[in-house]
Amino acid sequence: MISLQFLSLLMITLLAYHLDAQRHDEIEANALLKWKSTLNNQSQSLLNSWGTNTIVGNPCNNWIGIGCDKSGRVSQLNLSYNGIIGTLHDFDFSALPHLHRLDLYSNSLYGTIPSTIANLSKLKYLDLSENDFSGNIPGPFGLLKNLQFLYLYKNHFIGPIPQQIGLMRSLVEVKFFFNNFTGSIPSSIVNLTNIRGIYLHGNQFSGPVPQEIGLMNSLVEVNFFDNNFIGSIPANLGNLTNIEFLSLAKNQLSGHIPPELGKLKSLLDLRLFMNNLNGHVPLEFDNLTHLQVLTLSVNSLTGHMPQNVCLGGILRNLSLHTNNFVGNVPKSLKNCTTLYTLLMYGNQITGNVSEEFGVYPDLFYIDTSNNSLYGEVTADWAVSRNLAGLLMSRNNLSGTIPSKFGDLSQLLVLDLSSNEITGIFPQNLTNLPLLFELKLSDNKLVGKIPIEIGNLLELRRFTIGGNALNGSIPGEIGACTKLQYLNLSKNALNGNIPVEIGQLKSLENLDLSWNMLSGEVQQELGELQTIETMNLSHNFLSGSIPSSFQHCVSLQSIDISYNQLEGPLPNIRAFQNASFNDLRNNKGLCGNIAGLNNCAPVISIDDGNKRRGKRMLLLVTFSVLGSIFILIVVICLFLIWRSRKRNVVEANERVHQTKDLFTVWSFDGKMAYENIIEATEDFDSRHCIGTGGSGSVYKAELSDGRVLAIKKLHASDDGLDNILKSFTNEIKALTEIRHRNIVKLYGFCSHARHSFLVYEYLEGGSVASILGNDEKAMEFEWMKRVNVVEGVAGALSYMHHDVSPHIIHRDISSKNVLLDCELQVAHVSDFGTARLLKEDSSHWTSFAGTFGYAAPELAFTMQVNEKCDVYSFGVLALEVIMGKHPGDFISSMLSSSSSSLLPSTSSTPPSLISIGNGILLKDVLDQRLPLPTSDIVATQVVFIAKLALECIHQSPQFRPDIQQVSVQLSKEKAPLSDLLSFITLDQLSNFE
Ligand SMILES: *[C@@H]1O[C@H](CO)[C@@H](O)[C@H](O)[C@H]1NC(C)=O
Ligand SMILES: *[C@@H]1O[C@H](CO)[C@@H](O)[C@H](O)[C@H]1NC(C)=O
Repeated sequence: MISLQFLSLLMITLLAYHLDAQRHDEIEANALLKWKSTLNNQSQSLLNSWGTNTIVGNPCNNWIGIGCDKSGRVSQLNLSYNGIIGTLHDFDFSALPHLHRLDLYSNSLYGTIPSTIANLSKLKYLDLSENDFSGNIPGPFGLLKNLQFLYLYKNHFIGPIPQQIGLMRSLVEVKFFFNNFTGSIPSSIVNLTNIRGIYLHGNQFSGPVPQEIGLMNSLVEVNFFDNNFIGSIPANLGNLTNIEFLSLAKNQLSGHIPPELGKLKSLLDLRLFMNNLNGHVPLEFDNLTHLQVLTLSVNSLTGHMPQNVCLGGILRNLSLHTNNFVGNVPKSLKNCTTLYTLLMYGNQITGNVSEEFGVYPDLFYIDTSNNSLYGEVTADWAVSRNLAGLLMSRNNLSGTIPSKFGDLSQLLVLDLSSNEITGIFPQNLTNLPLLFELKLSDNKLVGKIPIEIGNLLELRRFTIGGNALNGSIPGEIGACTKLQYLNLSKNALNGNIPVEIGQLKSLENLDLSWNMLSGEVQQELGELQTIETMNLSHNFLSGSIPSSFQHCVSLQSIDISYNQLEGPLPNIRAFQNASFNDLRNNKGLCGNIAGLNNCAPVISIDDGNKRRGKRMLLLVTFSVLGSIFILIVVICLFLIWRSRKRNVVEANERVHQTKDLFTVWSFDGKMAYENIIEATEDFDSRHCIGTGGSGSVYKAELSDGRVLAIKKLHASDDGLDNILKSFTNEIKALTEIRHRNIVKLYGFCSHARHSFLVYEYLEGGSVASILGNDEKAMEFEWMKRVNVVEGVAGALSYMHHDVSPHIIHRDISSKNVLLDCELQVAHVSDFGTARLLKEDSSHWTSFAGTFGYAAPELAFTMQVNEKCDVYSFGVLALEVIMGKHPGDFISSMLSSSSSSLLPSTSSTPPSLISIGNGILLKDVLDQRLPLPTSDIVATQVVFIAKLALECIHQSPQFRPDIQQVSVQLSKEKAPLSDLLSFITLDQLSNFE
């Protein structure tokens, strides 16, 4: 009796539970579908598997991006990398109470974060990074008590971090970097007792670095770089016994460095540069034996440099420049064999260089300029075989320049100027194949300039003024055709100015003043087309100024005083603007300058007319510029109006939720076919936006406002239809690929008359078309180019490694990489279809790829693998930074290296050192853009060049995986200032 009652109760309970579960399914499904319906149409079509409002399924039933727990409740929503466009405003978070992971990383979501997100009380992982979110962080966020990972980086958030963050006690990692957050850090963070990493760099946080940080003992990494923090560094940071990375750099911190930081035994990387810190570096820093990186540069620090900074023997980068340090070079540097960069210029350091420094096999760059160092520069520095920069100017160094320096085959910059160096100019220095800048001025060098100077083919800047050199200037210097800056002044050089100086076609500044040069000024000197300043004063030059100077229009300043010159001055700006002091004390110069005699008058009757003509030209130029400006304004207004209009269209679509055409396309082409025929007016050429080997591309604007790119395949090919059909499954799989950097393939139509593939339409056009147009290329600035290369690497990495089966593109080229209208986000097109498209035209030959992008081994083998894509990526990446296809560049590198076209069989990669021949990276970059102004972007460009060169290695086995490339590109790098202006291609392989 009792058991019967019990049984029926149990059954009722079970039934109720079942019904309940079913109801939850529906609530969850409805909430998700409701949100989906607010997204734009393309995003909705990505979520096809979610069903529609009419057929509500179960989210746990293969809905894309949805994960469920054992009890059948939605616990995960992962839509990262989907290019989803929409907001979270209509997301009913309360319907998904079991969600513990919400990952929307790298989409195009915008608007604010609704405070209802706080309903996700079980949430452990929230990633909204790399979207276009804006507004404040809502206070109720604090209710997310179980949240461990909170990632909001790379959005447009503003306002302060709410005090309620202290309630999120489970937080382990907070990444808020690269937003526009303001305000001070709330004290409540002290309650985040599990936190390991706080990343706030690249915002506008202000106020003091809170004391509370020092109480958060669990912290391992703290990055406050590039904010507006003020006040002093809290002493209690010394309690962070687990901290490994601490950056407070580029803020406005003042006061002393607290000695307590010396207690941070685990610290690997400490960055305090670019603040207003003063006082001494505490002696307690001697205890920081795990340091690999220490940067204290650009402050007002005094006293001794930290003496034992390399006591742990693992220091790589030490940067102490631009402070007021006195005393000696850090003691521990003597045996610091791991040293890679050392920057200590701009202090008052004393000491004997030959005793204070040791031998550094890994050293890449050292700058001790502008201190009070003395002693001899020894041959020990020649042990650093990878040394690219040795800068010790403005000290009191003595001794001679070791001829061993001729072994520094990687040396780019040697600056020993303003010291007390004696002896001769060692001929071995002319063996340095990459030498770019050689500064030896203001020393006590004697002897002649060796004729071998002409071997320095890469030399850009050569200054050896202010020494006691004698003899004549060797004509061989004319072989240094890249020279831009030549200063031989204040020596005792005699003889004529060699005519070969007139061959220095890049020369901008020439200073030969204060020597004993004699003879006439040669005609050739006036043929320097790029010369800007020329100083020939204080010599014994005679004769008249050659007429060739009339063409020296780039010349801005000239000084020919104290010579024996005579005759009329050339009629160019530099002479017209010259002062008497620049011309005085000659034999008989004449011209229209106060202090000089007028020459015999030659008055032109046309003078007045000419001047009027000029004024007219000016007026015309201004009015043309004016109308161009107005035209641009009108176009902008039109574009704004159009985008508003489009928003209205989208809003309307949200209301009348139209049936999604795309869902059926892969299976039944009929409806789509008709829509497309209508939109393209039966493939009328007016809608054609490009043609290629495999077909033509049309732009189709559907009646509902959607825009698509239609790749119509050549209809003549009878076999094509069958080919496409036989690939139905593959194409269907490709339509399911969703990645921010891959052009979405919606499906294909195969029809007796026309066959075509249907793609997402991108307004920016292809990289090839942008680089081919000067105006667009200039709009395609460095930051954007960096983003695009990163995007392509990301797309390839995803297809090669993250999807199963892996997909090889086979035809990466600048025509296949399309951009959005802001030229920021790369979209790789024809992924996986390249094979079908290529094969149809050449009837199944195995060669894939575009000429100029195809890996060399394809000429010998039939093997198409990931490494072929890596090669093409390398070519593309070079093209993006060089602004044109690097074909000539690659072949010149090949011809100058010994590496063969055939895949190598040796097991060690032939080094890149043999190729490139000292070409400066900055000289091969797209010259239409000025060099990047930001060190961070410049460093990224250097990395792209380095990785691209590795990717185009002739032997596939030495090319990196695209995944490694992608990871390398997205890593945060320590920018080396001005690196881009001197690094050569050869040097890139040594660069870390
Ligand atoms: C931050 O604000 C400035 C000025 O309004 C703006 O130029 C910049 O793009 C913003 N940064 C982000 C990441 O939104
Ligand atoms: C930290 O948490 C405790 C206990 O909930 C609370 O009393 C205190 O006010 C919190 N501290 C701060 C600074 O918010």
